[in-house]
Amino acid sequence: STVRHYKFNVVLRKATRLCSSKPIVTVNGQFPGPTLYAREGDNVLIKVVNHVKYNLSIHWHGIRQLRTGWADGPAYITQCPIQPGQSYVYNFTITGQRGTLFWHAHILWLRATVHGGLVILPKLGVPYPFPTPNKETVLVLAEWWKSDTEAVINEALKSGLAPNVSDAHTINGLPGSISNCPSQRGFTLPVQRGKTYLLRIINAALNEELFFKVAGHKLTVVEVDATYVKPFKTDTVIIAPGQTTNVLLTANQNSGKYMVAVSPFMDAPVAVDNKTATATVHYTGTLATSLTTSTNPPPQNATQIANAFINSLRSLNSKKYPANVPLTIDHHLFFTVGLGINPCPTCKAANGSRVVASINNVTFVMPTTALLQAHFFKTKGVFTTDFPGNPPHKFNYSGPGPKNLQTTTATKLYKLQYNSTVELVLQDTGIIAPENHPIHLHGFNFFEVGRGIGNFNPKTDPKKFNLVDPVERNTIGVPSGGWTAIRFRADNPGVWFMHCHLEIHTTWGLKMAFLVENGKGPNQSLLPPPRDLPKC
Ligand code: C2O
Repeated sequence: STVRHYKFNVVLRKATRLCSSKPIVTVNGQFPGPTLYAREGDNVLIKVVNHVKYNLSIHWHGIRQLRTGWADGPAYITQCPIQPGQSYVYNFTITGQRGTLFWHAHILWLRATVHGGLVILPKLGVPYPFPTPNKETVLVLAEWWKSDTEAVINEALKSGLAPNVSDAHTINGLPGSISNCPSQRGFTLPVQRGKTYLLRIINAALNEELFFKVAGHKLTVVEVDATYVKPFKTDTVIIAPGQTTNVLLTANQNSGKYMVAVSPFMDAPVAVDNKTATATVHYTGTLATSLTTSTNPPPQNATQIANAFINSLRSLNSKKYPANVPLTIDHHLFFTVGLGINPCPTCKAANGSRVVASINNVTFVMPTTALLQAHFFKTKGVFTTDFPGNPPHKFNYSGPGPKNLQTTTATKLYKLQYNSTVELVLQDTGIIAPENHPIHLHGFNFFEVGRGIGNFNPKTDPKKFNLVDPVERNTIGVPSGGWTAIRFRADNPGVWFMHCHLEIHTTWGLKMAFLVENGKGPNQSLLPPPRDLPKC
C-alpha cells in the first residue's frame, strides 16, 4: 500500500465574510481546509502542528481506525489535546472504505473553521459501481458567525441559554448572494454540456441540518458516509452535520447559470433561520446569459421533503459491496436522547438554571485526561462502565416530559465484548422540545434498520425492520419526536465516542462512549499508543 504524508499547520488568519473581518483558526491558512486525498488501503500520516493559542485535536470523521483509536482525535476521549507549540502525527490505515468523509477539529467549537474534505478513492483499477463521472468536486457546507465562535459558545455557557444562530451558511467557504459585498460572490462550478459531475457534499456546519438543491437539475444519489447506496434521483438532498453525500449531476441543460441553494432544515419549534447560501453551476463554452436560473429552497420545516429523501436510502448491497447486517443481537440497548434543565446558580439570564442535554438522563462530563489512555494503562478513577442500557424511568417520550427535568452528570461508558453485536434504539424525547439529533458514532459504521415517529414499540416495530439492505452510515438523524434503530458489530477494540453532531448539543452533554474490549485472537487488540501521543 501507499504511504501518504500530509502536514497541517494550524494557524490564525484574517478572513472577511458578510463585509466584516475576524481572525479565524485554519489549517494551512485555508477555509475550508485542504482536501485530503487517499486510496482505500493507504497508510496516511498527517503531522498536525499547533501554532495557535488554543488546545487542539483533529478527528478523521468516519474513518474506522481499526485498532488505531489513538489516531481518532476527539479531545479527552482518545487523546489529550495538542498544546500550543506542540505537534502530533495522526497515523492510520484506511481499511475497507472508499468515498467521501471529512476531517475537523474535535475540541471546543474550533471545527467551525477547522475542517476539510477527506476523499478516499477506490483501489487503483477498481471502478465506481456507477457510471464514471467526467469530473469530481468537493462541496463543503458550513456556518459563519460574524463574531468569534469561541466567544459565541462561551457566552451561551455563561448565560445558560442557547447560543446565537450563525449569520450565514457557506458553500466552499462563501455565502453567495446573501452577502452584499461584491468580493463575496459565491462558489462557481464550471460545467460543460453533456458531461457528468460527481459532487461530494459534506455538511461541516456546527448546528444545522441543510437542504441542498440545484436549479434545473436532478441529482442522482450514489453514496452516503462513504458507503455506496442504490442510486436514486432527487430534487433535494437533506444532509445533517457529520454526514456526507455523493451525487451525480449531469449537465443536461443548454447554457447559462443555475443557482445552487443551501438552506437549513429544522422541524422543531426552536430557532428560526431561513438564510440561504448560494453557489452557481455555470455552463462554459456556451453563450452564458448573465441571468441565473434560481430555485426556491424548501421551507425550514419541510419534514416531508426530508423524509422522502431519507426513506429512499438503501445500501447498494451488491455482490461486491454486501450489506453485512448483524442478524443475531447480543446487546439490546435503548437510549433516550434529548434536552433537560439543571440548576446553575450563576446563570442569571436563565433564572438560575441552564440547558443541558443527556442520553438516558446522563449528561456526560468530559474527563481531564483521555479515556483511551486511562483504559489502556488501567488508570483508576477516570470513568465508570455503568452507563445505563435503558432510561431510568419510562414516560411518554414523544409527549410532554416528566416533571423532574434534572439529569445525572457523570463520565460513564458502556462496555462491549469484542465482536459482540449491538442493536441500539435512539429515542428522541420532548422534555423541552422534540428536536432532530444527528447522532455520530466513532470507530464504526452502522445500519439503520428502522425509524419511526412517536414512541418506539418493542413488540411491533422490530417486525418491520429492514435487515436486507438498510443504509449504512456513521451519522444518523433521529427524527424529532421519533426514533431510529441501528445495528453494528463491536469489532474495533478501544474507546469510541458517540454524540449528537449538533455541536451545541455535544457541548450541553449529549454524548457518551463505548468501551470495546480486546479480542483473544491475533489482530484483535488495540495497538499500543504512538510515542508522540500528547500528554494532558
Ligand atoms: Cu465529526 Cu465526534 O465527530
